Amino acid sequence: MSDNTSVRKCLFPVAGYGTRFLPATKAMPKEMLPIVNKPLIQYGVEEALSAGITQMGFITGRGKRAIADHFDTSYELESEISGTSKEKHLEPIRTVIDKCDFMFMRQREMLGLGHAVLTGEPMVGNEPFAVVLADDLCLNDGEIPNALQQLVEIHQKYNCSVVMIQEVPKSDTASYGIISGEEIEQGVYQIDDMVEKPQPEDAPSNLAIIGRYVLTPNIFDYIRQTKPGANGEVQITDALKVLAEDEMVLAVKLKSRRFDCGSIDGFVEATNYYYQHQHY
Ligand code: G1P
Repeated sequence: MSDNTSVRKCLFPVAGYGTRFLPATKAMPKEMLPIVNKPLIQYGVEEALSAGITQMGFITGRGKRAIADHFDTSYELESEISGTSKEKHLEPIRTVIDKCDFMFMRQREMLGLGHAVLTGEPMVGNEPFAVVLADDLCLNDGEIPNALQQLVEIHQKYNCSVVMIQEVPKSDTASYGIISGEEIEQGVYQIDDMVEKPQPEDAPSNLAIIGRYVLTPNIFDYIRQTKPGANGEVQITDALKVLAEDEMVLAVKLKSRRFDCGSIDGFVEATNYYYQHQHY
């Protein structure tokens, strides 16, 4: 049995088109783009697993079947390479498949991140859950708690919804949800305002939300009441802003390194970093 702060489930919204990576993403999900030899989505799932989460829920869309296949046994491949020197390359994904359960739901229309999270409600039920946006790749090198571990710890301490943040140049605020708040312990802010993708002159700070959240299940009711906002989409930021008016919502500064793999520059930077620092 879980207590009311343990986090057992993680949602991965993966229905987006990945237009910035066309033509690579024409017939392949952007979450399957590899940093060296591992797909972005696998880094995200491994991060959740290291944070003690074993139930992975994907909010998928058309053209995303490769993700479900990736987290399933490939009998043909297994029989082809089992007992050969190449078998070791399958070990990491086998471990993930053995330790986790995988759930999938289709988001039929792309109406925003808030809508994607709400689509995942039947996979979550009435318990706290994590959300990982796989194109924000956070380094998980075992030296310090990974991004989700940091969020889960603060969630367990305060028993409330928490989002991950990072300082960004003021000129970049229009790419992020931006928060402001009071620092209640080192690197932990109690949120008093949140704006999705503000222009620099309208941004309440330079503290940007990056793609990691641990949310209490009452967020679903708040999303249901959220009207389309920035880009005409139902934004999780807008739902969290109203939640923060009713109860404590915290933001935690990321301690590890993060690569924006939703952009070509960040993707190349991550590729170079992982090639130089990890063993393949
Ligand atoms: C989403 C969120 C935004 C957050 C960002 C982090 O935006 O809506 O608040 O700052 O992820 O990557 P997206 O990048 O999907 O447009």
